[in-house]
Amino acid sequence: MREITPAPEPTGDVQGIWSVNTRRTDSGELEVAGVGVRDIAAKFGTPSYVLDEDDMRQRARAWKSAMDDAFANLAGAEVFYAGKAFLSKAVSRWMSEEGLNIDTASEGELRTALAAGVPGNRIGLHGNNKSVTEIELALDEGIAHIVIDSLPEVEQVAALAAARGVCAPVYVRLTTGVHAGGHDFIQTAHEDQKFGLSVNSGAAQDAMKAIASHSSLKLLGLHSHIGSQILSTEGFGEAAKAVLAVRQWAAGQGIDIPEVDLGGGYGVRYTEADAPAPPPAEFAEVLACAVREHVAETGLPAPLISIEPGRSIVAPAMLTLYRVGTIKDVHTDTGPRRYMSVDGGMSDNLRPALYGAQYTAAVASRAPEGEPVRSRVVGKHCESGDIVVHAVGLPTDTVAGDLLAVPVTGAYGRSMGSNYNMISRPGVVAVRDGRAYEILRRETIDDQLALDVG
Ligand code: LLP
Repeated sequence: MREITPAPEPTGDVQGIWSVNTRRTDSGELEVAGVGVRDIAAKFGTPSYVLDEDDMRQRARAWKSAMDDAFANLAGAEVFYAGKAFLSKAVSRWMSEEGLNIDTASEGELRTALAAGVPGNRIGLHGNNKSVTEIELALDEGIAHIVIDSLPEVEQVAALAAARGVCAPVYVRLTTGVHAGGHDFIQTAHEDQKFGLSVNSGAAQDAMKAIASHSSLKLLGLHSHIGSQILSTEGFGEAAKAVLAVRQWAAGQGIDIPEVDLGGGYGVRYTEADAPAPPPAEFAEVLACAVREHVAETGLPAPLISIEPGRSIVAPAMLTLYRVGTIKDVHTDTGPRRYMSVDGGMSDNLRPALYGAQYTAAVASRAPEGEPVRSRVVGKHCESGDIVVHAVGLPTDTVAGDLLAVPVTGAYGRSMGSNYNMISRPGVVAVRDGRAYEILRRETIDDQLALDVG
């Protein structure tokens, strides 16, 4: 009976649902890295995103060392943290300190990483419709690579680089036909979508030839991203083979491609219904295996491999802390259901409304005591799809004023947040070694009014 499954209790297990430093104290309160959630709520208000800095760093380190190990006897590997999942200056610094680079997809993400002191040559730039400003900024900052996503963009980047007298390092984003992962909108390697250049149609090969003809462009690499929230390794191996086959084709044309980026998309466990995610070493080994085969079969030198994980680094490191408000019991065709309203909702986590994404929740301010009741956690927005957790068994004695924690909200929560109903977006509170501090402050109504110049 999934509908009344209570939230699993924090175990400090990396394969689990709560960040490694989340546990219940003897008094029953949830604490993150030694700080009780009641203190966090008192000091920073609710809702708040609570980010376990040490957990996020550990996940980043795990990817870096898994890739370094798997590619040690090849040409090495780089990990670009995908900033779209969640980016701030502090996060950029932490990732950089852990030896990761930053993958960006807009001027805002690029400027954030730069403002944190990450050098341009440790940042990549994506986008299917990059602005002139974005390309110019990338060129001026000596960015590691610009990922070309269309034929017109080849000419655009070539012209902007030529005007500056520089040679732009570029990747070509391939659509290989391999796709995997969660919701239809987050699958990105099938033909009928806006990203990348098709290998099957020959568009990717045309782009590579066009790039080779420009002295202001250096074709540094090939890129592929097959989807998101992928919990099995096979798709990554298939995609790697497809990309490496294009590299082999290019070598036959006299085009040398030293780097290959295999994107992000590594899944995480949101609820107990999800299998635990394979560890980074398993994914890394699948990629390394494809590269070893390619090198053995073609005799080409091994390429430098990059990956771009976002979700798998930040999602489990963060929880959202809400305060329970109105509670309402309703009768449905499938029996009674308790609607538990909290003080946030789709403006701080759009994923349930957009993708039907499943989360879990637990009473955080005290030990849960009562029997679990079939509950739905909803937000405070004027929309019936404003759901935070579709189905969870919450203790029958849960009352208004209790704190509720929703784990695994670090990826695409704050970054896809909105001001719907003019609700201000929550801040992000980082917690480490018994200290809680804001890395993004809560937005205020005055921030919103400051934009209203009418
Ligand atoms: N690299 C590229 C080129 C991407 O497009 C993405 C995600 C990533 C890396 C990072 O993927 P990750 O490791 O985080 O799965 N808003 C959706 C996810 C969209 C992913 C878009 N691209 C969600 O909330 O599930």
